[in-house]
Amino acid sequence: MSFQNKVVFVAGGTSGINLGIAEVFAEDGARVVVLSRNQERVDAAVAHLRGMGGEAMGFAADVRQYQALSDAMAATVTAWGPIDVLISGAAGNFVVPAAELSANGFKTVIDIDLLGAFNVMRAALPHLRKPGASIVNISAPQSTQPTPHQIHVCAAKAGADQVTRVAAMEWGPMGVRVNAISPGPIADTEGMRRLAPTPASEKAWTQSVPLRRFGTKREIGLVARWLCSEEASYINGVVLPVDGGFALGGSSAQAHNMHA
Ligand code: HXC
Ligand code: NAP
Repeated sequence: MSFQNKVVFVAGGTSGINLGIAEVFAEDGARVVVLSRNQERVDAAVAHLRGMGGEAMGFAADVRQYQALSDAMAATVTAWGPIDVLISGAAGNFVVPAAELSANGFKTVIDIDLLGAFNVMRAALPHLRKPGASIVNISAPQSTQPTPHQIHVCAAKAGADQVTRVAAMEWGPMGVRVNAISPGPIADTEGMRRLAPTPASEKAWTQSVPLRRFGTKREIGLVARWLCSEEASYINGVVLPVDGGFALGGSSAQAHNMHA
């Protein structure tokens, strides 16, 4: 498995799980592009990846802005050639009861997590290596587990999973594989800081994972790299849980614990 000089584009790649994925590709010799809204965070992530000895560049753009994405993809191809791997993981989340969520709050998460997922894939399509490119969207357990106080994320991630599956059917004939990874609770991430802000809620989440621990960003990165490799060349259209067994039933029970 070598991604030496392969072009890896990570939307939402400036922190957390997505930066962890970028690191795993970078250590394998890939040329990594990160994109997120905040220029300072983009610069920091690029410096970090270069500090690991890799080639990296970045773009400040919002996944809700199609043209900005398209421009970033085109600039990537001009610099480094067609995109071999696309990771799409930009997302927004906050914990709120549905009765207190405004229509705009719901729309905001749909726009980032669902429309954004489509935008990233669609804007990348003309710039992907065909045949041979691989797309990995970052899902979440909420896509299949109805989770209280997460109505916006549940709806958005469920929709994004169907975007993954339909694109896998339509783009497979071009030689582009489209899959998703659904991480469980991952340590030291913004997502879990929001969902498990207290030691008690962190403990409740941990108890909901059959392996009784949070995952690591590196564990997600290693699976993402494998999923994009030749070793996984016949996998297309799956949403793969990487969650210590969390999706087997823990998330809705956990959410009730957290908010009881
Ligand atoms: C209720 C809220 C809210 C909150 C925002 N809103 N935060 N409503 N509770 N805590 C509402 C606002 O009032 C507004 O509605 C609307 O949402 C838009 O808010 P903005 O602040 O203008 O949105 P924006 O600047 O676009 O920021 C998006 C964001 C923000 C999602 C709100 O938190 C963000 O940028 N997040 C990115 C980082 C992140 O969330 N990372 C975690 C990903 S983890 P009104 O009606 O007032 O106009 C994840 C899953 C984890 O996705 C799964 C773990 C198992
Ligand atoms: P994170 O660190 O907040 O990562 C989110 C990334 O997306 C950041 O780089 C952020 O940078 C970027 N982003 C947010 N909104 C954007 C927008 N509108 N346009 C472009 N970029 C945007 O969160 P995380 O917890 O690691 O989550 C990463 C992914 O994993 C998400 O898809 C999340 O749903 C999924 N996930 C997380 C967990 C977990 O345990 N944390 C579990 C399951 C699934 P900017 O702020 O600079 O834009």
